[in-house]
Amino acid sequence: PASNTSNGTPPVEEGVVADQLDAAAAETHKTDWTKETLSIVVVGASGDLARKKIYPALFALYVEDMLPENFTIYGYARSKMSDEEFRDYIGGSLTCRVTDEESCGDKYDTFLERCYYQPGQYSDQSDFKALSDRMTETEKDMKKANRIFYLSIPPSIFTAVAGCASKAASSPTGWTRVIVEKPFGKDSESFAQLERELSNFLSEEQMYRIDHYLGKELIENLTVLRFANLVFEPLWSRNFIRNVQIIFSEDFGTEGRGGYFDQYGIIRDVIQNHLLQIVSLFAMEAPVSLDAEHIRNEKVKVLQSMKQLSLDDVVVGQYRARQGKGVNHPGYLDDDTVPAGSLCPTFAAVALFINNARWDGVPFLLKAGKALESRRTEIRVQFRHVPGNLFRDRLGLDLDRATNELVMRIQPDEAIYLKINNKIPGLGMKLDVTKLDLTYKQRYNQHLPDAYERLILDVVNGDKRLFIRNDELDAAWALFTPILKEIEDKKVQPELYPYGSRGPVGSHYLASKYGVRWG
Ligand code: NDP
Ligand code: BG6
Repeated sequence: PASNTSNGTPPVEEGVVADQLDAAAAETHKTDWTKETLSIVVVGASGDLARKKIYPALFALYVEDMLPENFTIYGYARSKMSDEEFRDYIGGSLTCRVTDEESCGDKYDTFLERCYYQPGQYSDQSDFKALSDRMTETEKDMKKANRIFYLSIPPSIFTAVAGCASKAASSPTGWTRVIVEKPFGKDSESFAQLERELSNFLSEEQMYRIDHYLGKELIENLTVLRFANLVFEPLWSRNFIRNVQIIFSEDFGTEGRGGYFDQYGIIRDVIQNHLLQIVSLFAMEAPVSLDAEHIRNEKVKVLQSMKQLSLDDVVVGQYRARQGKGVNHPGYLDDDTVPAGSLCPTFAAVALFINNARWDGVPFLLKAGKALESRRTEIRVQFRHVPGNLFRDRLGLDLDRATNELVMRIQPDEAIYLKINNKIPGLGMKLDVTKLDLTYKQRYNQHLPDAYERLILDVVNGDKRLFIRNDELDAAWALFTPILKEIEDKKVQPELYPYGSRGPVGSHYLASKYGVRWG
């Protein structure tokens, strides 16, 4: 048995965190899949997300034997397609990303045999009843039939579909879960309305609100990094951290998606959800356990502790065309689906502050932009100076550049590295900045699951850790609604930046106001 330490605190036993993980995993496997069936309905089956992400994720789970034995996939949309045509449609989107080509090839046909298509309208209960009748045929020999509806459709029809699915196609014998995709409204008011409408048909327990960033490998690892290692957590506060940067950049514009994007803009599209979710996981206190409610309780406290945003702490930009030798990139306004003269931001940088004891005064600088010079998403944690640094004369750098920095590169080329000062080997005493580097490709020679794989599997297992609770969204909208309104009411002109550049200069001024240099 473990003995107490001298200060009376029981020592943390090795493997405690691993046990908790096991317990959490066991908790989620309550369904007896030898006796129960699973039908997965992709509503909006003819759409972009379904083809790009959902079918490939389902196929990868199937290849990895992660789907229950008795599963069936149903596509549902208005487009007319036979089962065969649907299989051809899905088939074109499947790649063998898990195993070698040959074994994947075997599975390809057996996977497609489990896929069916049911055409129907989104607000017609009798069409959903017809879908339910078809599902009943494949479910008939089992005691319990469980159903997942993935709403891969525009938000304007979320409620109609939730209503029809719950009234005419929910499972009479097992559970029914519904996956809802963003956008969850455009502001506090529209979010509240959406919630009111959906809650007429679905309980909170049934609803799985996706933020696919939570399904990314390194984001899931954030909790492990913090709470399963002794070295980081004691440093994780205003006492040692100078600033935190969360950087999202894409090297392509909104081409083809301008119609959707123009109604939302980058703050709603990426910052209010993906980046804010990262902040809340990064900054939360240790949860009581790995139970979904315990984790989400802590995340929501972070969101509720945010200082109200002011316009002085926000910079917005919009990309313009860039032409040159062999380069011909259109500007945001050149997209036919974008209204002339639109002020919609395709770039934004914001400085957030968390008013609590741990983070008081620490700037969390978030920036997100389309059509920038590179594609990357990173969390960068810059630590304070070493007080009275003995080596200040040997660094060959200004002290600001010699502070430690922990970088979590979420994508591409996943990595965690810590910048440290190190003695250059040899006689004499010269230092340079180098990296303790955990590059995933080098360390783990394996396929990293796509976010959608992980998240769909979690829905199958009833694990809500990586899904967003309604009060988190309430708090996230409470933070951003006033500033979005101010930007729109005042018609704030976005600063133009050339396609493929580092973004507007204003974001550097914002960072330097807090003594920060973007990483
Ligand atoms: P699509 O615009 O491709 O729509 C999906 C399907 O819904 C279409 O194939 C169409 O099927 C039907 N549909 C489209 N417009 C309407 C309409 N006005 N009224 C009724 N039905 C319509 O959407 P996506 O697949 O791109 O996205 C689905 C959901 O996922 C959305 O909520 C989106 O915001 C979200 N999302 C998408 C991402 C992406 O990368 N695409 C990323 C993150 C979130 P049919 O005509 O056959 O009925
Ligand atoms: C989506 C946004 O939620 O996330 C897109 O709507 C963005 O604009 C996308 O491109 C980025 O996701 P990922 O996984 O490619 O980084």
